[in-house]
Amino acid sequence: MSFQIAIDGPAGAGKSTIARKVSAELGFIYVDTGAMYRAMGLFFLDRKIDSRDLEKVKASLDDAVIELEIVDGVQHVILNGEDVSTRIRTEEAGMMASAVSAIGEVREKLVSMQQQIAASRSIVMDGRDIGTVVLPHAPLKIFLTAGVMVRAERRYKELLAKGQEPDLAAIAADIEKRDHQDMTRAVSPLKQAEDAILLDTSDMNIEEVTEAIIRLAKERL
Ligand code: DC
Repeated sequence: MSFQIAIDGPAGAGKSTIARKVSAELGFIYVDTGAMYRAMGLFFLDRKIDSRDLEKVKASLDDAVIELEIVDGVQHVILNGEDVSTRIRTEEAGMMASAVSAIGEVREKLVSMQQQIAASRSIVMDGRDIGTVVLPHAPLKIFLTAGVMVRAERRYKELLAKGQEPDLAAIAADIEKRDHQDMTRAVSPLKQAEDAILLDTSDMNIEEVTEAIIRLAKERL
């Protein structure tokens, strides 16, 4: 029998780190849906299409072929044949992802892909609308959150480790802007599903959060 774990929450709450660990421990596959929105954002950035130009966005949507490949347990995102897994990890791609994710047609395309991937296999999927829209019947839904400055510091350290030269104040401002955009958009805004369990990770480390989720999953398996 397959089992789904939906993990939603704002930018920088630790969703991908936690989801990766939980999936590895349970032997489930892991899908990072934010990476799909980022690849879509990159597609429009590369084509120099403004996210506010809805006609152009909709007209070019079919030209974006996004695929997910799992290589040695690691998710790779392929955009029109190019592995963009590294290129999507910039603040610019994140902001563009947030902008284009507010467009209904973009969401329809990616949500149907995500539902196909999750059909009939055990999976941990993270994003913004997994518990509310993509997998509304998931037996375990987690809403992960943390204070803005805690999240900004985590993202700062992540980017530093990747060799980038981040600016903490700019990251905090981006996070607040992205939260606002993601929570106030008309289509599938970020919100906690009624049956989701809220975990505030401000004062928890990665191991504590991972263990808490695994315990909840085992109770339901
Ligand atoms: O999780 P992330 O920061 O990589 O996501 C980038 C953006 O994509 C995020 O600001 C909002 C959007 N997104 C979404 O709307 N729905 C999802 N399921 C995942 C991401």
